[in-house]
Amino acid sequence: MDPSSPRSFRNMLSPARRRPLLLPALFALAVLTLCPGGTPRAMAEGGQAAEISLGHLIAMKGNGFSGSTACAECHRINGGGMPSVGIPRIAGQTATYIYREIRGVQKGTRFSPFMARVVRNFSKSDIRAVALYYSTVRTPKLHDPSEFDPSLRSLGRRIARRGLWDRNIPACILCHGEDGRGIPPNFPYIAGQSKTYLMQQIKSFAVVDRKDDPEGLMRGIASKLKNREIKAVAQYFASLTPPDYGTISPKNSPDRLRLIPEKKEANSP
Ligand code: HEC
Ligand code: HEC
Repeated sequence: MDPSSPRSFRNMLSPARRRPLLLPALFALAVLTLCPGGTPRAMAEGGQAAEISLGHLIAMKGNGFSGSTACAECHRINGGGMPSVGIPRIAGQTATYIYREIRGVQKGTRFSPFMARVVRNFSKSDIRAVALYYSTVRTPKLHDPSEFDPSLRSLGRRIARRGLWDRNIPACILCHGEDGRGIPPNFPYIAGQSKTYLMQQIKSFAVVDRKDDPEGLMRGIASKLKNREIKAVAQYFASLTPPDYGTISPKNSPDRLRLIPEKKEANSP
């Protein structure tokens, strides 16, 4: 029977079932009270710190399997990426998003020859750890040496802020947040990403090399944009400042962790 159905849930609460649940519940309570480290919340935070340091290690050295290059070689240890060759910044992107992208690379829904080799042998806990690590790193925007065409900036800004409704293209900021700063945890920031990277990704949604976007949200939009418009929005967002989600604070970190979509992994390899 489906354990989530209301009927089985009622069964669990029927008088015959209630008593057996009492003992485990008392046991759990005893464990929580007696455990060193105190409250469940403090324990969870300790676990998170350990995961972040594992993530830091993976970022510096890979996960130990052959072929697993340190993330830092390409994304740098501070997560700033390499704007000149279109390696994205990942610092301060949410753990949920980083996790989802790496899983996408593993599952082949995101075509990424560079990344595929690196993360082939990653377990879900490796991915979680490294995603958490980079979500907590702060890094200022790096210099982007691409050529900027000032005549495209206002077109880019207009598409970003108002969309092109006559062609059913919504404003980018509806999903990517004011000034492209992202809407955590699911919508990545795109402000301050390099122009090369942004153009490359919009094009890869358009040709469906990248199909990990929920509901095909980006594929639909990218396939309607003309080349000049892609260049314009890429240039506009590349000119903005990335957000500063970097610090771990009680306000932002626990949410990002909890929302990692482990449940939807039924068809994982
Ligand atoms: C050999 C270079 C290389 C290494 C090493 C590497 N990456 Fe990447 N990564 C890339 C490139 C290039 C892209 C973007 C283009 C693509 O998807 O192929 C990318 C994309 C990503 C993205 C998607 C970013 C976004 O905004 O969507 C994430 C997340 C990421 N890498 C995380 C990692 C992590 C974590 C590691 C270490 C375990 C790592 N990468 C190691 C080259 C690398
Ligand atoms: C309806 C919501 C929605 C709108 C509107 C939208 N996007 Fe997206 N976009 C997404 C989602 C969701 C993702 C993340 C997809 C994934 O998980 O791979 C994304 C990802 C991206 C990425 C890749 C980011 C990265 O770090 O790799 C780029 C670039 C991008 N969008 C650009 C744009 C531009 C430019 C526009 C406006 C023309 C736009 N988006 C409008 C939902 C949207």
